[in-house]
Amino acid sequence: MAKKRRRREKPVSTGSIAFRIGLSSGFSLLLIFIVLDVVLFCISILPSLIDETGNIQPVFNNYNDFYIFIREWNIDILLRVEGIIVLLWVIFETLKVRARLRPLEDFGDAALKLEAAIDKLSPDEEDQKLETGYAELAGLETAVNKLMTRMRDSYRQQARFVSDASHELRTPIAVIKGYADLLDRWGKTDEKILEESIEAIKSESDSMQHLVEQLLFLARGDSGRTTLNVTDFDVTEVMKEVCEESAMIDQAHTYLFEGEEPVPASGDVSLIKQATRILIENASKYTPEGGEIKLRSLNVNGHPAFSVQDSGIGISESDIPHIFDRFYRSDDSRSKQTGGSGLGLAIAKWIVERHGGHFEIISRKDIGTRITVVLF
Ligand SMILES: Nc1ncnc2c1ncn2[C@@H]1O[C@H](COP(=O)(O)OP(=O)(O)OP(=O)(O)O)[C@@H](O)[C@H]1O
Ligand SMILES: [Mg+2]
Repeated sequence: MAKKRRRREKPVSTGSIAFRIGLSSGFSLLLIFIVLDVVLFCISILPSLIDETGNIQPVFNNYNDFYIFIREWNIDILLRVEGIIVLLWVIFETLKVRARLRPLEDFGDAALKLEAAIDKLSPDEEDQKLETGYAELAGLETAVNKLMTRMRDSYRQQARFVSDASHELRTPIAVIKGYADLLDRWGKTDEKILEESIEAIKSESDSMQHLVEQLLFLARGDSGRTTLNVTDFDVTEVMKEVCEESAMIDQAHTYLFEGEEPVPASGDVSLIKQATRILIENASKYTPEGGEIKLRSLNVNGHPAFSVQDSGIGISESDIPHIFDRFYRSDDSRSKQTGGSGLGLAIAKWIVERHGGHFEIISRKDIGTRITVVLF
């Protein structure tokens, strides 16, 4: 359905508003004069209206009498003076109101100029800034320019997110297509090719599914569609549970748990578990087989916290500020061919920040990494 554009009313000029106010004020003065004149008229004819005997007499026997009365009392001059006073009053009031409304008119002009300048702004042109030339609007211009910069940043981030996501999905699709072609040509009869292709297609579609689930999580989070199911829980209990579960799934590493005291917290337990699993998955992925992975529940300055520590490849100092960026993977992890898209920690960050928490990272190359999550 076509959107109905709101019709803009033609602005009424301040001059015409001032004139209308002046006119109505003049009209009020005129009414006062009329009332005064009527009272004066009554007072002046009263003595001639009643004679000595107390009877009412006609004041004017003819038009001439009335004319003489007007000349005698100078009523014509009085009316003219009153008329001039009313006229001058209208002019005076109009000018006074106009002067008072002038700042409003200037503001209206500035607003129109601002609107025209905003209309010209484009989300793509980085260097474009809002400039109206009005000193009074400098604060507003700065605010709009800051808003534009933030909008451009978020626009750029969204565009990069879509392009990175498409790029990540292209690889598994290409692999699946390659194996499908291989099967089509030679695989139907060759059992070895058949098996290899089925394995590869299964593995690629698994990683594609994982990637799509990660993308959906972040997209839902960005659009505010993920709600937290907040309950009270014991961090120690949850960490113990996740530690046991990880030890069962991953037998290539040794899992340890430390933390005997209960650490009460409140939050969405399933999301907290998801964030912990992301940290454990990284610890396992970037730690050589046989290495140790240690989970802890603790209190940090009175705040509930937990940490995941590994004895793996470590993260270089220059990579640490970027590891929570979407699709960021350090060169080391790429060259290690561990697989992954670089979205795990972005998801963990979203979860932790939604709980009002933050991360603390200590890492040494080839010694290991400890990531602590401090909740609210
Ligand atoms: N425990 C760790 N040891 C060494 N490097 C790590 C560790 N945790 C994270 N990193 C680095 O941070 C990067 C980002 O981690 P993240 O979990 O976001 O992505 P990923 O593990 O590469 O892929 P995904 O989690 O999406 O499968 C990793 O690629 C790796 O370079
Ligand atoms: Mg990961």
